[in-house]
Amino acid sequence: MDGIRYPRKRFAEILGLSEEELGRREAEHGIEAKDSVLPVAELSRYREIFGIRPAPLPQRRQLFLNFKGGTGKTSLSTAYSFRLAEMGYRVLLVDLDSQGHATKCIGYEGEEQPHTLFDVLVRKMPVKDVVLRTPLEELHLIPSNLRMSTIDLALMPMSGRELKLRKALEEVATDYDFVIFDAPPSFGLLNLNAIMAADDLFVPVLPDFLSFHGLKLLFETIAELEEDLDHELQQIVIVLNAYNPTTKIARAAREALETHYGEYLAKSVVRQCTKFAQASSEGIPIFAYDPTSKGAEDVQSLIDEILPRLPGGAWAMEKVG
Ligand SMILES: Nc1ncnc2c1ncn2[C@@H]1O[C@H](COP(=O)(O)OP(=O)(O)OP(=O)(O)O)[C@@H](O)[C@H]1O
Ligand SMILES: [Mg+2]
Repeated sequence: MDGIRYPRKRFAEILGLSEEELGRREAEHGIEAKDSVLPVAELSRYREIFGIRPAPLPQRRQLFLNFKGGTGKTSLSTAYSFRLAEMGYRVLLVDLDSQGHATKCIGYEGEEQPHTLFDVLVRKMPVKDVVLRTPLEELHLIPSNLRMSTIDLALMPMSGRELKLRKALEEVATDYDFVIFDAPPSFGLLNLNAIMAADDLFVPVLPDFLSFHGLKLLFETIAELEEDLDHELQQIVIVLNAYNPTTKIARAAREALETHYGEYLAKSVVRQCTKFAQASSEGIPIFAYDPTSKGAEDVQSLIDEILPRLPGGAWAMEKVG
């Protein structure tokens, strides 16, 4: 992520300013505007100097989950996290998957990281000690790697084993506006911990009927858990991903989703977009890789849809513009 640089126009846009306004404010604060591109680390510094941080929000924990693999959990959760941080929100992205894909998507090699959530949940290390700070100051990461693959076994004999994550995060309750979890495509104790720690569930689905049938199982499982473990999610948001309206099957799947899960389905749809794969292979979040791509546009509209629903969010949106 170190290498991310923004053209001045884009940099200004992220701060909610025109290029002229950016120049004017730089002059006002005695900042010498010598470069035509600005490194990502400057975003936070400029926000500080210009006094344009969004007001802190009551922390919201959002889990991207689907037991089915390859539906876009990682692509969407990393884009969503990075963009919120660009907008000035304080975000902790938690990679729950031992494949370490979210870690890779934002430019880190999981295997090189000394700590993962395993250290927090099993070895009782404080969250603050395992968090990786990124050059975008508002974005922190708890990375993952193959050492996470035995976490379910390690949690098994522990008492209060399904509440470990929720408890561990209490320590950082006021440090982040958002905690975003990228879940692996499985059901075990770690994902159970994530559900118990989450306020909101985001369920990326592909526009095919296999995904559609998987949803039924997911909803049944969640309903059972909510009853057995006395935890109620604030909202479940189904996000149709990789949508291509030119195929009949995709249109039919969308219609079926609207009919059967209409109340949960996000209005924003993420269209098919090859930039997700390109961006992730370079370890650059899609918003930095190509902010004009369909993928970035659609995740932005998802954020614009969700933010006003959150406590304090509508007001914050107005401020950010
Ligand atoms: N909107 C999209 N358009 C085109 N390709 C996409 C889109 N979203 C995701 N992809 C691609 O689909 C593949 C799977 O995406 P991703 O890894 O995000 O899914 P996942 O649900 O996290 O998978 P897993 O279950 O393995 O964790 C990736 O190659 C990704 O680049
Ligand atoms: Mg994934």
